[in-house]
Amino acid sequence: MAKNINIGMIGYGFMARTHSNAHRKVNNFFDLEYRPVLKTVCGLVEAEAKAFADKWGYESYTTDWKKVVEDKNIDLIEICVPNNMHAQVALAAAKAGKMIICEKPLALNVAQAKEMVDAVEKAKVPNLVSFNYRRVPAVTLAKQLIDQGRLGRIFHYRANFLQDWTISTDVPQGGMATWRLDVKAAGSGVTGDLLAHCIDTAIWQNGSIKCVNAMTETFIKERKNVETGKVEPVGIDDACTFFCRFDNGSLGNFESTRYARGHKALYTFEINGEKASIRWDLHDLHRLQYFDHRDEGIIRGWRSIHVSDGDQPYMKKWWVPGLQIGYEHSFVHQIADFLEGLATGKPARPTFRDALETQKVCEAVLTSAKTGQWVNIPS
Ligand SMILES: NC(=O)c1ccc[n+]([C@@H]2O[C@H](COP(=O)([O-])OP(=O)(O)OC[C@H]3O[C@@H](n4cnc5c(N)ncnc54)[C@H](O)[C@@H]3O)[C@@H](O)[C@H]2O)c1
Repeated sequence: MAKNINIGMIGYGFMARTHSNAHRKVNNFFDLEYRPVLKTVCGLVEAEAKAFADKWGYESYTTDWKKVVEDKNIDLIEICVPNNMHAQVALAAAKAGKMIICEKPLALNVAQAKEMVDAVEKAKVPNLVSFNYRRVPAVTLAKQLIDQGRLGRIFHYRANFLQDWTISTDVPQGGMATWRLDVKAAGSGVTGDLLAHCIDTAIWQNGSIKCVNAMTETFIKERKNVETGKVEPVGIDDACTFFCRFDNGSLGNFESTRYARGHKALYTFEINGEKASIRWDLHDLHRLQYFDHRDEGIIRGWRSIHVSDGDQPYMKKWWVPGLQIGYEHSFVHQIADFLEGLATGKPARPTFRDALETQKVCEAVLTSAKTGQWVNIPS
């Protein structure tokens, strides 16, 4: 009989849906010692919190996140709210001895992120940051192929995360629908929102980043603020491109924008090694492109691996070979790994401490864009 883990979900938006869905499904597909129980959901508008609780099967709802954190019946706090709330909720949750899963980016800046790492480590509470793309089976397979040495020495790592939803000058900033455009709520623009994913995956697959050189641009300088009703300066980066050097000697090239007309969420990465290359594309997320120079010349070429077989990551838990899974499953894998980590004592990653490294790279990128200088990533 699995042991219950009572969930306190802070937020009822996009990520609260993906995480709630994952909690509901995880025990149907994974054999685990623990079972999430959807106890309480919290959000800004009471009627919306109630509707979310009804739809997803939470036992109760509230508009006061502090009540959830203080509730003795809650074991795990899920932080699925805008970035400027992550630190306050995480610090309180750690103090109350709760386990924490926090959405990315960990914090608004490195100083906050360090405080959060100290808090969870002092309280010795299990903690995880939701860089869910690590758990797309094709991305996990890429990591396995790299770790097996199939690529040999790595020369290049390049990643893009492209969207097009803020091109219109009519898109406002602030408020609940467009908090991502308000620097006070988001901390940064595409750097923290999109590149943080690319950086997390890159560090995981290719090791630490040593130094960065970046440029950012804010194409639309003023937007109406939904809360004040006034036209105000825009403080976020609309686009960011950076180069970097990895500790292993390879070169990195990253680009993100919300101004790439035609692209909705085009996250791609390509890794070029001495012996082989790998390429992945979120729009075709169950496939991994692989080129191996050691193949016989007459049949050498890019293979498109349909990642759906039982010996590929996570796939034996799902259907039968040939039947693919999608975006939502990366969150199911995330909670499965977290619960597995509780049972084995080998914590799932990235932990808050791992995510601090990504936060340092994001901050160095923004500093470099301001100064025009190369910036070293502090240890
Ligand atoms: N892992 C991913 O791929 C991914 C994708 C999207 C968002 N995110 C991250 O998830 C977090 C949430 O993003 P989202 O897209 O779900 O946002 P959202 O706008 O859809 O939802 C935000 C929620 O926060 C709640 N909220 C705001 N202020 C509150 C307060 N004071 N008290 C209680 N609740 C409050 C709102 O009621 C709302 O339910 C962000 O940190 C974002 O960066 C991660």
